[in-house]
Amino acid sequence: MKRGDRVLINGASGGVGMFAVQIAKAYGCHVDAVASGDNESFCRSLGADHFYDYEKVDFIQSDERWNVIFDAAGKSGYWDAKDVLLPHGRYVSTEPDVKGMLMTVLTWPLSKSGTVMLAQSSADDLRELVSLYQRDQLTITIDSRFPMSRLAEAHRRVESGVDRGKVVVVSQEGDLHTATR
Ligand SMILES: NC(=O)c1ccc[n+]([C@@H]2O[C@H](COP(=O)([O-])OP(=O)(O)OC[C@H]3O[C@@H](n4cnc5c(N)ncnc54)[C@H](OP(=O)(O)O)[C@@H]3O)[C@@H](O)[C@H]2O)c1
Repeated sequence: MKRGDRVLINGASGGVGMFAVQIAKAYGCHVDAVASGDNESFCRSLGADHFYDYEKVDFIQSDERWNVIFDAAGKSGYWDAKDVLLPHGRYVSTEPDVKGMLMTVLTWPLSKSGTVMLAQSSADDLRELVSLYQRDQLTITIDSRFPMSRLAEAHRRVESGVDRGKVVVVSQEGDLHTATR
């Protein structure tokens, strides 16, 4: 992304999307968010400039165009989304499956390319996130906190479907109230 880019985040209220919205805003992009209507105010609080309720509107039918479409919901596909990409725009999916791998290979020579991202730990990236947090450009919504000894419960919480925010596991009971404020 670069300053001024038009970015659409599909799945903007989710564990991945809520970071994507804020990072794109911090980098000076215009950000449009897609989630269910219940999460409109949450997405706007993250900085979204415009909101699409996927139960009412299909962004693929929109007259708007984007430089980057980041699908953090696994609910769209390159071949549909390419029509609403600007020239040289990029479609990025978080679904690292065979379909996504094929898309990456087949579309890389095209002017509108698609790719799959796979999260990898990087100290530089974490430092950048900490820096955004310290500059008040990143807020982290926490659903619940569990000590390592209750890891199974934390998994069950995620499996039950978290509406909003991260489930945090901390290594020491004593860190429960300090590590993730
Ligand atoms: N590649 C990687 O390294 C990597 C890493 C982490 C996660 N992932 C994948 O990324 C995806 C998102 O993970 P997550 O933890 O953010 O999931 P999540 O917290 O469950 O969030 C899902 C998001 O998708 C939205 N959504 C649901 N149905 C939708 C639809 N039909 N159209 C548009 N948006 C829709 C939800 O909105 P509402 O809640 O408002 O319905 C929510 O914002 C998952 O498929 C996960 O497997 C990949």
